Amino acid sequence: MRTIIEPFRIKMTEPLKITSAKDRAAALEAAHHNVFLLDAEDCCIDLLTDSGTGAMSTEQWAAMMLGDESYAGSRSWKRFEASVAEITGMKHIFPTHQGRAAEGILAACVLKPGDIIPNNSHFDTTRANIEYCGAIALNLPCAEAFDTQAEAPFKGNMDIAGLRACIAEHGAGKIPFAMMTVTNNTGGGQPVSMANLRDVRAVLSEHKIPLIIDACRFAENAYFVREREPGYRDRELLDIAQEMFSLADGATMSCKKDGLANIGGFLVCRDDEWAERFRSLLILREGFPTYGGLAGRDLEAIAVGLKEALGYDYQVYRHATVEYMMTRLTAMGVPMVRPAGGHAIFLDVRQMLPDMDPLTYPGIGVVNALYLAGGVRAVELGSVMFGHFDSDGVEQPSPLELVRLAFPRRVYTQSHFDYLIEVIEQVWRERNRIPGHRITQQPKMLRHFTCHFEPI
Ligand code: F0G
Repeated sequence: MRTIIEPFRIKMTEPLKITSAKDRAAALEAAHHNVFLLDAEDCCIDLLTDSGTGAMSTEQWAAMMLGDESYAGSRSWKRFEASVAEITGMKHIFPTHQGRAAEGILAACVLKPGDIIPNNSHFDTTRANIEYCGAIALNLPCAEAFDTQAEAPFKGNMDIAGLRACIAEHGAGKIPFAMMTVTNNTGGGQPVSMANLRDVRAVLSEHKIPLIIDACRFAENAYFVREREPGYRDRELLDIAQEMFSLADGATMSCKKDGLANIGGFLVCRDDEWAERFRSLLILREGFPTYGGLAGRDLEAIAVGLKEALGYDYQVYRHATVEYMMTRLTAMGVPMVRPAGGHAIFLDVRQMLPDMDPLTYPGIGVVNALYLAGGVRAVELGSVMFGHFDSDGVEQPSPLELVRLAFPRRVYTQSHFDYLIEVIEQVWRERNRIPGHRITQQPKMLRHFTCHFEPI
């Protein structure tokens, strides 16, 4: 059959509130034109993130009932540890309440002011955790990543020459580790090839620099490797994931993505001395090392979810949704990051609104238009999230101006996606009416979450 179906059926439903255009205009006004400040109930299709928003399976709910809430050495911890150890092959495993807690512990234990951490592209919390320690988060995406229209299979790759140049310029002593984010979320959910991971590993090994994988979407990346990289067609996704982790010295993970759980994360490593440091800070910040920041039932849900994410039929279905959206929207001429990424579609706002000043935040205009048109909540990945102030205090825009519509796992059905296409079509048709925005209030760090806007 040509039709790819959801490889599950639904036995519990959650109502969606259907709102009017007038309701939505009032809600957005009350939220200071920042969709992060909306009530979730007012968002009919909530594509703000694929993080923690997935639906759990019957197996996961059943496992949760087996949650052992003992403070130390629980059965749930054993199952969590076994699942993470099987996939990552790492010696030391620390559960955390989510990905950023793992990043925070890694950064606080290893970094000194002035250190430099290269990555294909840092996620915003990773960058913030590194900068909080006075270190520098350096993005080294491959050249194709900057061309949103280039049809390269692995646009999440790192620029190897750039990595060599960075080490030559700063010296290995300034680089306590490098990172690779799989898939590369902020660069369009684009995958990293095994060949590129191997090259990164080889360059780092020459200089004895450890490699840490930001593994949030490791299973989606494994699927791309199977589909797009020569030599992986007959391999199980688990096997591919194991090969990816075998190239690393450690990993940070948000189980809210490819753990198919609503909360949770982990930090893993091979080195005993690092593990000693992580353990002490984990106890201080998160909890005893056999539960981290999690309940026993969360550990159970993750132990099962990590394996389900590596299910081939599940990944076929997930990627079919992204491909479907890409095909339909491309036919309408909507500019997007190409090819399809793993967990989202990314509208290319610079091409949608070429004449708009980036410092009037065209991405916010598009995000707000999507909400007003159909109650769809998306997120700006552009000059609000990634813009910065230079040493003279002048605001510099982001190199890419994207709007991400992230797809929660196993949550929305085909008709939801057809509705979404209609909403995007309307925004695209009426794009010349989208206003610029100015910021009226902002915090110093991670401003996109809480700042206030005003349409110009
Ligand atoms: N790394 C990447 C690549 C991420 O995408 C995220 C979260 C994190 C780390 C942090 O994990 O949320 O569990 O603390 N990304 C979500 C998103 C929030 O919407 O892309 P966390």
